[in-house]
Amino acid sequence: MKILVTGGAGYIGSHSCIELAASNHQVVILDNLCNASLVSIARAEKLAGTRFPLHRIDLRDGEAVHRLFEREHFDAVVHFAALKAVGESVEKPLDYYDNNVVGSIHLLQAMRAHGCKRLVFSSSATVYGNPDSVPVNEDAPLRVTNPYGRTKLVTEDMIRDACAADPQFSAILLRYFNPVGAHPSGEIGEDPRGIPNNLMPYICQVAVGRRDHLGVFGGDWPTVDGTGVRDYIHVVDLARAHADAINALEYARHPATTLNLGTGQGISVLQLVRAFEQARVRAFEQASGRKVPCEIVARRAGDVAAVYADPRRAKEVIGWQAARGVDEMCVDAWRWQSRNPEGYGAA
Ligand code: NAD
Ligand code: UD1
Repeated sequence: MKILVTGGAGYIGSHSCIELAASNHQVVILDNLCNASLVSIARAEKLAGTRFPLHRIDLRDGEAVHRLFEREHFDAVVHFAALKAVGESVEKPLDYYDNNVVGSIHLLQAMRAHGCKRLVFSSSATVYGNPDSVPVNEDAPLRVTNPYGRTKLVTEDMIRDACAADPQFSAILLRYFNPVGAHPSGEIGEDPRGIPNNLMPYICQVAVGRRDHLGVFGGDWPTVDGTGVRDYIHVVDLARAHADAINALEYARHPATTLNLGTGQGISVLQLVRAFEQARVRAFEQASGRKVPCEIVARRAGDVAAVYADPRRAKEVIGWQAARGVDEMCVDAWRWQSRNPEGYGAA
């Protein structure tokens, strides 16, 4: 199939373009590069051994999106493009609704106008908020707690409504838990701007010497060691799920099917730090390498104790399950970070 990948220059999008190409699909990227670099596309192309033509379009520009669909036929869309910083979404909620919701409306309108009937959408475990129990399955109550999460839930709802209104329209909504790691080549990975909000990039930046220690947000959570527990998933496993979802849509209708993407295993902050230190020593023989000094600091506003997935439905519906463990996540994250200490910036 010929697939339009919105946000294909970004962290998860670039890895997914490679997996889609490996599944013999033709990939075209739409990205405005507001949080990505052309270098990631060039490197992903090299790894995939094929071209990923880029249309530098902003989804907020509905006319430009329509014109693209007029010029080219797409069999399916994988929709990653969004702003994703929770804290920023609290400060600038309208920017988030404009980019993520209005952008998605334009995309859905262009798809409808041009007969494109298959969609895979990037949602987030953030829609579960503070779950009543773990592991969380897809039927758990939805309780978003910030504007970013609400843009994801609103877009999920729009897609469900679009599927209900058109029996030919078919969609898979993927709720990611905590994507980490990088392509095993060390060529592409996560390149956060400024101080990382998320744990794994922060650990990597401490390890590479860009920051001096990790502040652990709370040491008195009701968890195994008092630190927060999450479900970390290797980005290559996550990327493969998009190819599996697209292949499932090629052969069967999915009237807005929602799937969790996680490993099903909860890992605490301190467990991840230790796993990272050990993986680095094992894989790179850096026995004397920098440790990751930790200091317990106050809880982060809005944080929760433990969130991890029940990922069984993804296996039943699209035949996907995570294959890579925490060791591989850490080794691949470190390979990317150590080879690209300044991310794509210095490339
Ligand atoms: P990313 O920022 O690396 O990628 C997003 C891409 O979308 C970037 O290349 C950016 O330039 C592009 N983009 C943003 N707004 C655009 C617009 N209006 N028009 C065109 N392009 C635009 O983020 P990511 O981590 O790869 O996340 C991809 C998707 O997965 C997002 O929808 C995000 O909300 C979702 N998600 C991410 C995580 C995570 O932890 N990384 C977790 C859950 C869900
Ligand atoms: C974040 C997002 C959430 C998104 C999810 C998946 C925020 C507030 N939430 O949540 O919307 O769906 O990622 O990508 O950004 N931690 C530290 N020190 C740090 C950073 C994190 O101790 O410097 C802890 C956190 O308290 C948490 C764990 O590490 O217990 C993971 O944090 P993070 O990577 O931000 O992921 P989430 O909290 O799951």
